[in-house]
Amino acid sequence: MGVATTERTRALLSKQWFPLSHADAAHENERIEIVAVCDADAERAREAARGLGLTEASAFTDAQAMLHAVKPDICSIATRTPGRVDLIRLAIDAGVKAIHSEKPLSQTLLDGENLMEEVQKRGVHFTYGTLRRFMAPYRLAKKLVEEGRIGPLREIVVDHNFKDLLLWSHPHSVDLLLFFGGAEVESVNAVCEFEDGAVSGNTVDCDPRVDFARVRFKSGCLGMITSTTGMNVRLTGDEGAIHIVGNGERVELHDKGQGTFFTRRTVLEVPPAPSGTAQALRELVSALDGEAAVSIAPDEVAMNQRVLWSIVSSALANGATVRVNEANEKLVITGRTGALTA
Ligand SMILES: NC(=O)c1ccc[n+]([C@@H]2O[C@H](COP(=O)([O-])OP(=O)(O)OC[C@H]3O[C@@H](n4cnc5c(N)ncnc54)[C@H](O)[C@@H]3O)[C@@H](O)[C@H]2O)c1
Repeated sequence: MGVATTERTRALLSKQWFPLSHADAAHENERIEIVAVCDADAERAREAARGLGLTEASAFTDAQAMLHAVKPDICSIATRTPGRVDLIRLAIDAGVKAIHSEKPLSQTLLDGENLMEEVQKRGVHFTYGTLRRFMAPYRLAKKLVEEGRIGPLREIVVDHNFKDLLLWSHPHSVDLLLFFGGAEVESVNAVCEFEDGAVSGNTVDCDPRVDFARVRFKSGCLGMITSTTGMNVRLTGDEGAIHIVGNGERVELHDKGQGTFFTRRTVLEVPPAPSGTAQALRELVSALDGEAAVSIAPDEVAMNQRVLWSIVSSALANGATVRVNEANEKLVITGRTGALTA
């Protein structure tokens, strides 16, 4: 996600997702100049610098050294989860005022929440790798909901993938729930699969597979994460439904027409727009220019983590209802799959 997109990822996603990597999106933004890269792996750092046409001196292996040498306006972070919170803090302490970070935020709930409090307090503009909220199909759907086109929103269903991984994938589905339903969440019920022997005391040393999760918002709206493949979002209100189909490929409005059920389908035109990463970076530039705040709030990122922790807390209690303020704050979720973490 930092500098290169694999062929496998290219094959999975349609045109609207690109530029996807942080560097590709930065490169296409005329207000951004990439001045340095950092990777703990020296060869990867050098290779990234070469690929971006930077000098070897612009390739760092130590984030603190880079931050102090180049004093960037914007820092983007695409490491794996361990140490991510520390890197974001380093950037804030080095005076960086705009940060784009990959998901998931942290391996413990409080690390993530404390960091988001700090982001808020220090007035740092922060965007997050939950890209769909920055993309046109999802924004169009939200606008229609806000305009009342389907009446009061009652249910948000996110079909992500069959039993997808909690920390690797579900920051995305939880973000979609919060994007449409708001960050005021009441409770969660969930069923997950854990690797054999992964759960010990408060440590979950795997990336749990989510069978199903139900999120109840304080508004009474319900959010569902299913194990259905297809990457669809279905928003249902009293007067109709909006379906975002196939990972943002199509947006459909379903309403009653002359009938009783939502059987009239209209495929909506989605205006061309920047990719999710490009839009997130544009928002950081615009926030630095004092033109507009970024479209994601630290509270939403913090609530995303809290919902993920509530999913695991509920699954460990056989699907019991867990109020989000009672999620197990001591749980460490490593997000490990084999040798890698989310
Ligand atoms: N937003 C999305 O749609 C999306 C898609 C894929 C991956 N991701 C997320 O992006 C992150 C990165 O994924 P990836 O596939 O690019 O991982 P990767 O393993 O290919 O790259 C991570 C790099 O970070 C470097 N690194 C780790 N700690 C470091 C540190 N302290 N200082 C400097 N460099 C450090 C590693 O050496 C490695 O080269 C993951 O957390 C993943 O969940 C997001």
